[in-house]
Amino acid sequence: MILPEVAPAPSAAAVLEVFASLDSDVDRLNERLARNPALGERWDRHVEKARSAEVPRRQAFVLLGMENTRDFLVTGGGKAAYGRAAQTAREVLSKEKDSAPELAYAAGVIFDAFAAGAARWIAEPIERKTYLTELDRVAAHGLQAARVAHGLARGISGLSGARLAFAGGLLHDVGKVALTALDPGYAEFRKHAEEKALSRRIRQFAEAERYGLTHAELGSLVCAAHPLFAPLARAVRFHHDPHLLRGDDRSAFRLAAILSVASNMARLNKKAENDKDPLIAEWKGPELKGEDAASLGFQAKALVKLSAPPV
Ligand SMILES: [Fe+2]
Ligand SMILES: [Fe+2]
Repeated sequence: MILPEVAPAPSAAAVLEVFASLDSDVDRLNERLARNPALGERWDRHVEKARSAEVPRRQAFVLLGMENTRDFLVTGGGKAAYGRAAQTAREVLSKEKDSAPELAYAAGVIFDAFAAGAARWIAEPIERKTYLTELDRVAAHGLQAARVAHGLARGISGLSGARLAFAGGLLHDVGKVALTALDPGYAEFRKHAEEKALSRRIRQFAEAERYGLTHAELGSLVCAAHPLFAPLARAVRFHHDPHLLRGDDRSAFRLAAILSVASNMARLNKKAENDKDPLIAEWKGPELKGEDAASLGFQAKALVKLSAPPV
């Protein structure tokens, strides 16, 4: 019930794709809009109202600003309340070097779609509040992980999917949001499992027993439903078991390893002193114990540099 609602409408997916691609321009946007007459008409009416005059489309994109144009077209004319997570993700990534902020925006749209669905999916106000709190928690953890994932991916030459690393960090736990949407009791279940300090393996087992699949599996289905993020589906699926991809192609393993380390770093939220700090072993966790820089593609000192001071 939820997956089709958080997958973008084809028109929104097409707009996000134009903005996220390296050769996005007014002409490509115009061409995409021409393929969707209903949305095109809504856009023309919106422009006419804003400018009190008819303005040719190409010119209107520039006059109203590309970002306003994107927001309008992605929400299908302001029908969906998207924007908060998407804007935040975009702002965070635009502060980093070699960034692709429109891809971060598109990943944030997924969280916004989950937020927009709250009223439809969850009737009980207290349960809805629990769900939205869990969503904010996962998004905040995702943003922290995203910054690290982006930093690590930048340092690995030839890593396919590197442009998507920030989005992967942001989305790696989105399956937890989906599980909470299906059962608001998931928030309590997760908290309980964390407080009991159960091992990751036991927690994953308990999750799969109770819900039929883990948050990593469900998160990978969310990515697969989104054309821009389908290439992340495997890395998200294995973000707690990257070693299972060791025999796979190198980039798939490295991307999953990046998400695993980034998630652990974001969760522990501590600053390492140097590359001999025992924290580094904790960040690698049992998932990547024994993996060295040659297989991971990044050095311990890259982790030290990216480790955040406690907030
Ligand atoms: Fe996770
Ligand atoms: Fe995580």
